[in-house]
Amino acid sequence: MTSNRSAAQGSAPSGPLTVPPFAVVPGVQVQRALHGREKQITELVETTYRLHSAGDSVNPPSYFLRFPDRPTARIIALPASIGGEVRVDGLKWISSFPENVAAGIPRASAVLILNDHDTGYPIACLESSIISATRTAAMAALAADRLSRPDRRPRRVGFFGTGLIARYIHTYLVGTGWHFDEVGVYDLSDESAKGFRGYVEQTGAPGRITLYDNPEQIIRESDLVVFATVAGRPHVGDMTWFGHKPLVLHMSLRDLTPEIVLGSTNVVDDVEHCLKADTSPHLAEQHTGNRDFLAGTLDDVIAGRVALREDRPVVFSPFGLGVLDLAVGKYVYDEVARSGELHVVDDFFHELRRYG
Ligand SMILES: NC(=O)c1ccc[n+]([C@@H]2O[C@H](COP(=O)([O-])OP(=O)(O)OC[C@H]3O[C@@H](n4cnc5c(N)ncnc54)[C@H](O)[C@@H]3O)[C@@H](O)[C@H]2O)c1
Repeated sequence: MTSNRSAAQGSAPSGPLTVPPFAVVPGVQVQRALHGREKQITELVETTYRLHSAGDSVNPPSYFLRFPDRPTARIIALPASIGGEVRVDGLKWISSFPENVAAGIPRASAVLILNDHDTGYPIACLESSIISATRTAAMAALAADRLSRPDRRPRRVGFFGTGLIARYIHTYLVGTGWHFDEVGVYDLSDESAKGFRGYVEQTGAPGRITLYDNPEQIIRESDLVVFATVAGRPHVGDMTWFGHKPLVLHMSLRDLTPEIVLGSTNVVDDVEHCLKADTSPHLAEQHTGNRDFLAGTLDDVIAGRVALREDRPVVFSPFGLGVLDLAVGKYVYDEVARSGELHVVDDFFHELRRYG
């Protein structure tokens, strides 16, 4: 659902209108503000989903900029507005250049612009690859918590695709209290798989780490499967691999064939957003001509509006909402401002008198 804040929910400026200062928040400050806050940020993501579900947000479709000369690359614009106590508008502008990884630099890079609620002026530009990975990991941790039964917590996690997002998700699962007996690792790239294993080892989290060299085995041996690949088209399509009914966090959105989607209980973050851009649920919709295979949104499950069937795998496919980036970005901005370390760019807005 792309919700719309109603006029009745609009709010008047809190004081006389002035041009706010403009700040730049580099990655080092973003990381410091978020470090060790896994529980807080996961709660913030939950609150933001609730606001979004209640209609106190504006979250239009993401805009995908693609290039004929660089077919694997894209830059996505995610404009959004959020109400509640956060009350901020803004835009995430995030690039994905998968070929970067071979050159040793991250695939994704991003900035987040926050706009003042009352004047519309941009108040900050934040480094946002960390914010984006953080909110993604927080929503994965929230989904793992709310889509699994407390008396039947998965103990064997399998990471299918082990880049930066997988690393953040592991950090968030452990940081929100998950313990695993087994940590499975599978990636097409040996280097990625070994790098991820090294990271998990170095966290000191308990659990035996196993490197898998085929996709079937890691799925069969995991009761929580995290997909974080960069696959553009489905590559997993054998329903028998899911016979043990795992919980699947389908973060990369395009790994599963329509058959797997149709054989599972499907939860998304936002229906309209998720059924776009050739995601696996979008392909399933094209295949069947309807949306009957969707159980509901994560917020529907959290609020008790939807009960999960236990006789099928549960697949969570989150498109990733701009409102989450805004909420986490505003949290970072407020933390840095509170510490008195905001790097304000003096005279950024310079043409301020109507008649000179
Ligand atoms: N849903 C969301 O809100 C959200 C947010 C952020 C990122 N993501 C997605 O998460 C994914 C991972 O992002 P990242 O930054 O970690 O990327 P990354 O490039 O750092 O890592 C991706 C890894 O997947 C591996 N891989 C690719 N195809 C594979 C396959 N078929 N089988 C196994 N491994 C495979 C690659 O070798 C690589 O190690 C991307 O698809 C990204 O779009 C989703």
